[in-house]
Amino acid sequence: MSATTTMTAPKSTPADPQPRHPDLLTAFRLGPYSLANRMVMAPLTRNRAGPGGVPQALNAAYYAQRASAGLIVTEASQISPQGVGYPNTPGVHEPEQVAGWRRVTEAVQARDGRIFLQLWHVGRISHPMLQPGGSLDGALPVAPSAIRPEGQAVTHEGLRDFVTPRALVLGEIPGIIDQYRAAARNALSAGFDGVEVHAANGYLLDQFLRDGSNRRDDAYGGPIANRARLLLEVTEAVAKVWGADRVGVRISPVNSFNSMSDSDPDATFGHVARALNRFGLAYLHVVERDFSDRKPEPSYDRRRLRAAFEGPYIASGGYDRLRGDWALASGGADLIAFGKAFLANPDLPERFRRHAPLNPPDPTTFYGGGGRGYTDYPALDAAGAAA
Ligand code: PHB
Repeated sequence: MSATTTMTAPKSTPADPQPRHPDLLTAFRLGPYSLANRMVMAPLTRNRAGPGGVPQALNAAYYAQRASAGLIVTEASQISPQGVGYPNTPGVHEPEQVAGWRRVTEAVQARDGRIFLQLWHVGRISHPMLQPGGSLDGALPVAPSAIRPEGQAVTHEGLRDFVTPRALVLGEIPGIIDQYRAAARNALSAGFDGVEVHAANGYLLDQFLRDGSNRRDDAYGGPIANRARLLLEVTEAVAKVWGADRVGVRISPVNSFNSMSDSDPDATFGHVARALNRFGLAYLHVVERDFSDRKPEPSYDRRRLRAAFEGPYIASGGYDRLRGDWALASGGADLIAFGKAFLANPDLPERFRRHAPLNPPDPTTFYGGGGRGYTDYPALDAAGAAA
């Protein structure tokens, strides 16, 4: 056992001072919290909320099974009826949803886990059928500019071509910020440990950040100082509710998913990282790859981005144990997020600790359904793989 492994303290033990060469199983101090390890369960859309976007006992069981993650970031949760983009995703704008989430937070915290809620508005990645009213005459999705993404929306009645969204007028922006503020308050009453502002993967805040989707000529478009304005105002509002040290922000500089592009990701996201420094956030969470698995074009310099942000940095995107340990030991990141590996291995930290084999994820059960492929992935002992 290496010196770092012995620092893998139980959660009741205060985190050691940050060691020089941490690995995935080393404790970490995140804002007011002592995380048991540096493994973050990445936000994963699973489309298994109950009617009305209300989290169920099944959802609480799923998250509780994964409470040994240093930190869980929940699946994205819409902050308003306007912010919905998919069937059966959980909301955080109605009292019933808050009550549903409370079951989740209580179940995770009963197992000494830490859980942040991801705050989500999909912007143009919605469809009139998903908007209030739920018909073809439903409202148009909103976006920074009236630019239709390529591809199809997932509705309750199957795939439908994306529509051209309605560009938000200047006077509507405070209302968008209000949606985030109200959802942040709801997350606080649901008992979360913090919140993550979703500014990644082609959803509303990312649509403002990147110049492929933002062609505005007012204070929220044009130069990056303007394109970043909405994210900064949202972050400020949410941080006022929570305290900045319990708020993270997620970005994805080169993810082309949802028809996204930017002419200069280094400049855009370097600015974003530096601008976020003013808050003293819990972390910056970076999706480092392109979901399409193409080599991102234009590329960006991840080390420059890492250096630009002064707080904790969570790296996400195709990490395995080896790459995760290496990134931590070399200072490339402070925490590592795992998506599919956590989905399929409720006891992922313990498996890493024991150098045990991993359950493979089943992509046919990622989105929608019940407990199969959700709460039935075995933990180590049940799998008979224990040493
Ligand atoms: C998805 O449902 O495909 C999805 C949701 C949120 C993300 C990325 C993908 O950030």
